[in-house]
Amino acid sequence: MKNLAVFCSGNGSNFQAILDAVRRGKLKAHVALMVCDNPKAYALERAKKAQIPVVLLSPKLFTNRQDYEKIIVRILKSQAVDLIVLAGFMRIFTPYFIGAYRNKMVNIHPSYLPAFKGAHAIRDAFEAKVKETGVTVHWVTVKVDAGQPILQKRVKISKQDTLDSLEKKIHRVEHQIYPLAIQKVLSA
Ligand code: GAR
Repeated sequence: MKNLAVFCSGNGSNFQAILDAVRRGKLKAHVALMVCDNPKAYALERAKKAQIPVVLLSPKLFTNRQDYEKIIVRILKSQAVDLIVLAGFMRIFTPYFIGAYRNKMVNIHPSYLPAFKGAHAIRDAFEAKVKETGVTVHWVTVKVDAGQPILQKRVKISKQDTLDSLEKKIHRVEHQIYPLAIQKVLSA
């Protein structure tokens, strides 16, 4: 069984979808730990409830990004983590970290990449008044939101949609495709 480390900064609904998929046997993996950079993240509650070990590390405690990342790499190695799953982790890694987990780190992004890269993809698509957006699961590379897609799904934006309803639609699709994409990677 492969060991996953899921990284979160906020709500953790994708983390929850992964835990649920593992519990239902749809995703054959072991969630070894959750890494979090935000003490206020609701994802921490989810981990506690599911009894998943947490590494809560604030980058503010470190003088530079690489020192922060070095500790994380050391922990991941000690836990024999096979795949890093970024699930709403809102921080950009240095080439050092990405090099340490080359071809072993995936991310979910709330748009049909390469459209709407960046931290506000849902809002950007809504404000651009496009007819559709989507969700992408992709490999993480040094270039942000530019790694090879693993799975993508389009999401229509209807005239009735508000930003809130669009967010809900996107999250529903994320929860559906992230476990599938992870299983695809693990079975390859
Ligand atoms: C998700 O919509 C994810 O795609 C997005 O953050 C949200 C996290 O939600 N990630 C990015 O925008 C990365 N650029 P969650 O904490 O409920 O899983």
